[in-house]
Amino acid sequence: MTNAKTFWLTGLSGAGKSTIAVALKERFDTTGRLCAVLDGDAVRTGLCADLGFSPEARSENIRRVAHVCKLFNDNGLTVIVAMISPYADDRRNAQAVIGEQRFIEVHVATTLEICERRDPKGLYSKARAGLIPQFTGITAPYEAPAMPASLLDTASLSVTECVAALYSLA
Ligand code: ADX
Repeated sequence: MTNAKTFWLTGLSGAGKSTIAVALKERFDTTGRLCAVLDGDAVRTGLCADLGFSPEARSENIRRVAHVCKLFNDNGLTVIVAMISPYADDRRNAQAVIGEQRFIEVHVATTLEICERRDPKGLYSKARAGLIPQFTGITAPYEAPAMPASLLDTASLSVTECVAALYSLA
């Protein structure tokens, strides 16, 4: 078995998952550790382009990505996932697919208030206006991890500090 890991970053839209994922990959790149980022927005343009945001569709989204993570990890690649993955059951299933030793659950725990204030893609205001159904945090639930390996409070930690915290778990 390789020492490849899957860092599974879960949190609300706008929490900073993608930013931290890319910065962590850059850190791994400098040390020569092979690594790939799987970002929800990117995954949904191809592999999961057929899926919407119902609970069932999100489960399928997570299931497919978990299997990709397993394949990558089996081939020695560390994976950094940046997906809302709002349901605890789906994340538990992902952990079962990937393997307990490899799966590192990271809660990017930026509050809804801050995410909504940032609103980098303008999605929260659209969701509030009723233009996006089943929007996580507004009209769809987010189940926070009960015991994540790491909890990153982006209100008090810089991206560099978040990366350092995760790098130490690798
Ligand atoms: S997940 O819930 O299935 O894990 P995923 O991380 O793949 O979600 O995709 C989330 C991204 O899709 C958000 O960052 C946002 O850009 C976009 N999006 C579009 N509609 C929704 C919605 N109803 N809820 C959450 N995100 C949405």
